[in-house]
Amino acid sequence: MAAEEPLVLGIETSCDETGVGIVRGTTLLADAVASSVEEHGRYGGVVPEIASRAHLEAMVPTVQRALDQAGIKASDLDGIAVTAGPGLAGALLVGVSAAKAYAYALGKPLYGVNHLASHICVDQLEHGRLPEPTMALLVSGGHSSLLLTEDITSTVRSLGATIDDAAGEAFDKVARLLNLGFPGGPVIDRYAREGDPAAIAFPRGLSGAKDPAYDFSFSGLKTAVSRWVEAKRRAGEDVPVRDVSASFQEAVVDVLTRKAVRACKDEGVDHLMIGGGVAANSRLRALAQERCDRAGITLRVPRPKLCTDNGAMVAALGAEMVWRDRAPSAFDLSADSSLPVTDTHVPASHDELHRLSE
Ligand code: KG4
Ligand code: ZN
Repeated sequence: MAAEEPLVLGIETSCDETGVGIVRGTTLLADAVASSVEEHGRYGGVVPEIASRAHLEAMVPTVQRALDQAGIKASDLDGIAVTAGPGLAGALLVGVSAAKAYAYALGKPLYGVNHLASHICVDQLEHGRLPEPTMALLVSGGHSSLLLTEDITSTVRSLGATIDDAAGEAFDKVARLLNLGFPGGPVIDRYAREGDPAAIAFPRGLSGAKDPAYDFSFSGLKTAVSRWVEAKRRAGEDVPVRDVSASFQEAVVDVLTRKAVRACKDEGVDHLMIGGGVAANSRLRALAQERCDRAGITLRVPRPKLCTDNGAMVAALGAEMVWRDRAPSAFDLSADSSLPVTDTHVPASHDELHRLSE
């Protein structure tokens, strides 16, 4: 392990946020984010080409903003971390290229890290080092997974994942159906607070006795909401947006929390962390707390700003890589849009490491 807590800058460009964070060990020093979300609004989803161009324009000013916020010089850094995948290929490429340029120019090691592992590791900035093992429920616009995390820098095992839509994607699609705009999660969360979660009995996907215990499915739920709303509209009746939001949201968070607590019990893990954009959901946080308390599980959820995509989470994982003496990446690191979650980072091969040390 490194002697002193390492100072690392992290760059995140896997989707529509250009995030640059600076972390010392498990302490957050800066979290600068430039988002292109408004440019995608009228398309109802992220347009990859628009995201890539926005990353390119935002990159250097956002790095500068992070350095200013942290009150450090780039030369003070011990390493540069970057999301190598998974995510949008063109968007990832902008971040990876920038990280290589900074690392090369500054003579610092480069760490290509996994976006999903970063969503888990960010909790260290809020609650200190992750207990080992920790169960992670990762719920975002692109992913819904249950991950048994033994060592966040090297050993993450996937227990289950969505077989169709991601949880956040379901929020976005239902919001579009209700004409609530994009992204859908925060708006549905708001409307649901004034609605009745028991008003409409929407289906709980993959919850039968014979269904896989840890996999998720949200596309049937989305179809059920769509049919229910269409029927109302055809009958010329008003759609009760608040009740639909609350009942839909309850169906999602009921399944997520039930399966997460079950995975903890089955695996004998007594710490659950929830990460990813959907972890910002107020009802998910409340129900998870209730069910964890009942099961004797300690729940860790980062504050909402750290749950959505940001650079601090990448810096957090990069700092942990340095702290645990993990091998840096080679300068020919490539972006991998479908990097598996088990690849927590992309270390240089043995030959490359040998070359790097010469
Ligand atoms: O992690 P994230 O920022 O980006 C991805 O890696 O996907 O997650 C974005 C997703 C979107 O689908 C958004 O609708 C959802 O997170 N989200 C929420 C809330 N805030 C963001 N979903 C439910 N409730 C929220 N409060
Ligand atoms: Zn994400």
